[in-house]
Amino acid sequence: MEDVIRVIVQYLHVTAGILWIGGAFYTIFVQTPAIMAAPPQARGPVIAQLAPRQIFYILRLGEATIITGVLRIMVSGRAREIENLASRWTLSIVIGAVLTVILLGLGHGIVKPALKRMLTLGPSATQGDAGAAAEAGAIARRLKTLGYVQLALGFAIIFGMVTARFS
Ligand code: HEM
Repeated sequence: MEDVIRVIVQYLHVTAGILWIGGAFYTIFVQTPAIMAAPPQARGPVIAQLAPRQIFYILRLGEATIITGVLRIMVSGRAREIENLASRWTLSIVIGAVLTVILLGLGHGIVKPALKRMLTLGPSATQGDAGAAAEAGAIARRLKTLGYVQLALGFAIIFGMVTARFS
């Protein structure tokens, strides 16, 4: 029975993690360049529809990954080992968990408010307000750089998790 629970929790955890980091990969390498290549008048309405849905799903997936990750420790049969910071398993999980919290924090604390601001600026920028267009452009550039940082964090977390599996 314990094995069945472990499989279910692991399945949910890995699925949530794949969708979370995979969603970020798709956003950065497929969706954003495609939107930026579109004519400016077409961008606004598309971003207005996409951004709220996207940030909602990505943040919920991050939260689901953390909750199932904590559950995964609880059903691992190795929960007590977490007190031993010298163990490779503990180090991999703890470093992965800390990076995960940073990653989700960036989403809640920086990406979500920045997208909200972009959506506010959008209509003025489309109607020719140069100040609004410049600010929206600056936010888009900052989000792009942050996106690469977030993806690097995601890959580092996956490395930590796989290391834990073999520790
Ligand atoms: C608070 C955050 C997290 C915690 C506490 C956590 C915890 C765990 C634990 C305990 C395992 C099992 C390790 C073992 O086999 O002994 C695991 C595996 C795994 N985790 Fe996480 N995790 C977290 C975040 C993430 C994130 C953000 C991802 C993103 C993709 C992720 C992806 C995975 C994967 C793919 C495995 C399976 C590794 C393998 O079997 O080779 N985890 N996690």
